[in-house]
Amino acid sequence: MKKLYIETYGCQMNVNDSEVILSILSKAGYERTEEMSEADLILANTCSIRENAEQRVFGRIDVFRLEKKKRPEVLIGIVGCMAERLKDKLLDGRIVDLVAGPDSYRRLPEMVAAVNPGNPQIDVQLSRTETYDDIAPLRLDRNGVSAYISIMRGCNNCCSYCVVPYTRGAERSRDPYTIVREAEEAFAAGYKEVNLLGQNVDSYLWKAPEDCPEHCGESVNFAQLLEKVAAISPQLRVRFSTSYPSDITDEVLYTMAAHSNICRHIHFPVQSGSDAMLEKMRRKYDRKWYLERVARIREIVPDCGLTTDVIAGFCGESEEDHRDTLSLFEEVGFDAAFMFQYSERPGTLAARKFEDDVPPEVKTRRLNEIIALQNRKGAENYRKMIGRRLEVLVEGPSKKTPEDLCGRASNYMMCVWPDSVHKAGDYVQVEVVDATPATLLCRLV
Ligand code: SAH
Ligand code: SF4
Ligand code: F3S
Repeated sequence: MKKLYIETYGCQMNVNDSEVILSILSKAGYERTEEMSEADLILANTCSIRENAEQRVFGRIDVFRLEKKKRPEVLIGIVGCMAERLKDKLLDGRIVDLVAGPDSYRRLPEMVAAVNPGNPQIDVQLSRTETYDDIAPLRLDRNGVSAYISIMRGCNNCCSYCVVPYTRGAERSRDPYTIVREAEEAFAAGYKEVNLLGQNVDSYLWKAPEDCPEHCGESVNFAQLLEKVAAISPQLRVRFSTSYPSDITDEVLYTMAAHSNICRHIHFPVQSGSDAMLEKMRRKYDRKWYLERVARIREIVPDCGLTTDVIAGFCGESEEDHRDTLSLFEEVGFDAAFMFQYSERPGTLAARKFEDDVPPEVKTRRLNEIIALQNRKGAENYRKMIGRRLEVLVEGPSKKTPEDLCGRASNYMMCVWPDSVHKAGDYVQVEVVDATPATLLCRLV
């Protein structure tokens, strides 16, 4: 067996792609190693979402290059979103043997075999149909409890700041029967949770091919897919992300409400609280719509955890726009948020049309104000849970106090409690006795 060392950057979908890559290359005689020094092939599965994500990878390429100096026979490949965005520019002056975009992974074995000194291989062709639906991912062992399943690829939205449509191509939905089969296989292998992944899961829509003998004329939307996956077993939790505020339907919310194993958590990226910014970002909703959807979520799925993403300092953002974001955070009270400063991505609509005119120190100050507000609101939500009884899926020992166990409640809040009886994959009932800003301190009941 040859040895493959792989590093993964970016979103959960990229983690799942690395699992697909491992599966494809395992059939070509590669096994995974966690030691770069013993690898025959080093891959970086990369992310382009913000400039600092790319800078980190360039730093790693320098490290790989040192390894290649020591061992010239080792092959180095850049795959994923940076490969797609930068294409053959990655070959200029860098010791890289292979560049493969997100839709080229099936070709990795032949590309690796074809690499010769001075003859790097590149394939950055995007596809309208590739979903890797017949490939059983070789799970990167995160905790052995929760498995990622990509239900679609690409994105058909055109948020003006975002590079994803360029790096991942057009949206396509995966055959639901292969999704259900993969979830059943994960459950049979001991996983207790599946996380259904897509850039905009609410636009999932699969239509049976016309020549399909079994499912002719059938179509499946996201709510129907959720239903199918939830039906596998009450012991299998179902999570999903990401929900797009203008596309999430009441049908999805009612499906959640009807199945207690569909987790009460929605990741609901708002990006900004200002209508002017939302329009410029080409998001397809306004503040009022967003708040109405939040109210609807809370009405149909009581106790639903809500998390979000936000961008501070987008092009032309005024102090008033920024205050609109702060007031939205105050009003909604998210449990947690991923908070970013705007980073201009070459080639996007915003880079072409708008000036990146908010000074870096203003972006940083605004981001810090959002973070401070969110930390306070998040901590309030955690404190409100004191006294509640929750069902938690055990993930394993707590990182801080290894004699305690940790795991998430249905609403995605992290719980820790003293326990020497249970193990990863068990469901336990706990009572919340105290809370830190991002952890519920519990006891077994
Ligand atoms: N499909 C998801 C987002 C995926 S990217 C959605 O539409 O919600 C994850 C997050 O990165 C985005 O929600 C956004 O907050 C952030 N992001 C994307 N492009 C960015 C940019 N150019 N600068 C800063 N943050 C960005
Ligand atoms: Fe990017 Fe918008 Fe697509 Fe999300 S929905 S991946 S932010 S273009
Ligand atoms: Fe990054 Fe590509 Fe995901 S740009 S966030 S790895 S889709």
